[in-house]
Amino acid sequence: MKNISIYDFDKNTHIYKNGRSSLYICLKLILKNYNAKQILLPVVICDEIIPVIKKFNIEIVFYNLTDNLEIDFDKLEEKLENKKSILLAVNFFGLKNNWKKINDLKNVYDIVTIEDSAHCHVSENEHADFSFFSLRKIYPLLSGSMLKINNSKYNRPFTYRTSLPKIEEVSYFLRNYIRLKATYSKIKNKNTAIFNSKDIFIDCFSKYLIKGVLKDDKKYQEIRLNNYNYWLNYLPEKELAPIFKNINDRDFYPYVYPCIASSRDYSEKWIRWGIEKNITVMSWPKFPSIIHEDMLTDAHKNILCFPVNQQMSVAEFLKYE
Ligand SMILES: Cc1ncc(COP(=O)(O)O)c(C=O)c1O
Repeated sequence: MKNISIYDFDKNTHIYKNGRSSLYICLKLILKNYNAKQILLPVVICDEIIPVIKKFNIEIVFYNLTDNLEIDFDKLEEKLENKKSILLAVNFFGLKNNWKKINDLKNVYDIVTIEDSAHCHVSENEHADFSFFSLRKIYPLLSGSMLKINNSKYNRPFTYRTSLPKIEEVSYFLRNYIRLKATYSKIKNKNTAIFNSKDIFIDCFSKYLIKGVLKDDKKYQEIRLNNYNYWLNYLPEKELAPIFKNINDRDFYPYVYPCIASSRDYSEKWIRWGIEKNITVMSWPKFPSIIHEDMLTDAHKNILCFPVNQQMSVAEFLKYE
């Protein structure tokens, strides 16, 4: 795994406020050159990205995933037939998608690919025409996202612009240092129905901080993996089955420990358990309302995420509970 500092950023790297702003720029660059009729999104996706796409005149089409969040390629290919498309694939919770198979689709269909690495650390290799990262989710930053334009055909000169930090960004940043009271995840993420395309620049503090935090990637990875493995052994598999069965990839850099609650009751039970222990256990995602219910499986609806943040050792924390 490479260590990255701000000085290593190449001319294909752009920095913005969050994953949504990177996606916005990405779509702008693509649609200037390429007359896509549709954008394909995985059926498990957060509703926050929909308002970004709605800024453009393009049809949103969802494709199926297995319970383990793998792409159902047969069904996907039916949707790519005879249509210029943008294909967005997510590296869920830090695990790489099947990029070999996704890129093979380019030999058959007319597609431009976007790699949504919002859950990934930044030293991850890129696999698609565009890759974007949500730095603020993993590193101690108020805001920040990285867009990598891997297909030089789409690249444009980048001007590094900043904004003043917002109150919600400061409180998001403080979670790295202060343990706030865990609450029901459903009441979080307010105000995501709107996307302001003028508000896409990283705050001026994070532009400064970014230099240092990316260098700690390796250190963070070790703690995150330890926490991931702790949850894997600690949580009862009958109630909470791991989404990823065998992680042998030494480059795996988990965003959270994701699992599937075997019923809605177990899901509620473990969210309540988290609140009692002051550990944020979240159900994910909040699905966009435009998804057809029948594309979602019970597993998709019962995904729970346990934290693996580098700020705490889960083992130590639970020992004193
Ligand atoms: C898969 C995925 N992509 C994109 C985003 C948007 O990232 P951001 O919140 O940094 O805008 C999220 C947000 O949670 C996400 O889960």
